[in-house]
Amino acid sequence: MQIEQDDVRFRGGLRGGETLGSPICIWIRNRDFENWQEVMDPLEIDAAKAEQRRLRSPRPGHADLAGGLKYRRRDLRDVLERASARETAARVAAGAIAKQLLARFGVEISSGVRSLGPIGLDRPVPAWDQLSAMNDESPLRAIYPGLEQEMVELVDRTKQEGETLGGSVTVIAHNVPIGLGSHVQWSEKLDGRIAQAIMSVPAVKAVEIGSAIEASSGFGSLAHDPIAFNQDVGWQRSSNRAGGTEGGITNGQDVVVTAYMKPISTLSRGLPSVDLDTMEERLSQYERSDVTALPAAGVIAEAMLALVLADALLEKLGGDSLSEMEAHWASTQQLQHDWPNC
Ligand SMILES: Cc1cc2nc3c(=O)[nH]c(=O)nc-3n(C[C@H](O)[C@H](O)[C@H](O)COP(=O)(O)O)c2cc1C
Repeated sequence: MQIEQDDVRFRGGLRGGETLGSPICIWIRNRDFENWQEVMDPLEIDAAKAEQRRLRSPRPGHADLAGGLKYRRRDLRDVLERASARETAARVAAGAIAKQLLARFGVEISSGVRSLGPIGLDRPVPAWDQLSAMNDESPLRAIYPGLEQEMVELVDRTKQEGETLGGSVTVIAHNVPIGLGSHVQWSEKLDGRIAQAIMSVPAVKAVEIGSAIEASSGFGSLAHDPIAFNQDVGWQRSSNRAGGTEGGITNGQDVVVTAYMKPISTLSRGLPSVDLDTMEERLSQYERSDVTALPAAGVIAEAMLALVLADALLEKLGGDSLSEMEAHWASTQQLQHDWPNC
């Protein structure tokens, strides 16, 4: 929300800008909390006011009904507040730290909106050059700038109709080393780990690695990336349809992930639901809500990819300090160069 400044305060784990190994504690104040203190205070609340603001008709597409049933909450606000995507601000802050670690090893991450509603779905999976050339200040962070005006107009029209929109965002990690993740155990496969992390972003309902959707409808000869070797450059691939992983291991190509987001569930005109007090039909309650959250979802997806890749990099390199990681990094680069004569 516009009122949130999202300035980050460090409360622990750092000294003079350096990590100490202890858990890093980051504090992001929620300014809107001031407007809710009387009904959301951890210890004392105004029962009459809480009743007035009680959420009692669950919103289809949200955790309201399932979470209320599971945790036996009479006020569905207890579910709504924690299920809110506001929680992802913390992931973005933590992801920023993971990105700094990755940057020490040359890895960069960027994202953008690939499609909004039906606009852009026919465009190919973007490559790193397109993402890095993207204007981060543009209203929708669209990867294809030519589509942005049409997208903005669609958002405006959709808002007037009390409707919402979904779409897709592509996130790419560039300069990823060969060998993150592993084929030896299902839980170590990097594509699976990425899919879990990206799918955990609220409202993301499908995850595509590389050009998987297009490849699934064609022949194998058009789905894979030819292998070549060049004495000066090393291993080369003339395409990156696999999106940077084969067998759950990074192959040195960019890691390309597209997240598909469902349309926002809170419609200003409401959706069919039930009043928990009367158990009769009632439209779902409206809470202040966006028409679409795609531009923000891209930023969250960047953070999630950074966390997964930083984890995998730590697994590969080990060590208790950056200098130990860097020393191991140098030897793995040399070993990769020597392979298969090693
Ligand atoms: C950045 C972001 C902002 C969101 N904003 C809203 C919103 O304003 N209103 C809403 O109903 N859902 C919003 N969502 C989606 C809900 O959080 C999500 O649909 C809900 O928690 C149910 O989870 P699920 O869709 O993953 O099953 C947002 C999601 C993201 C990633």
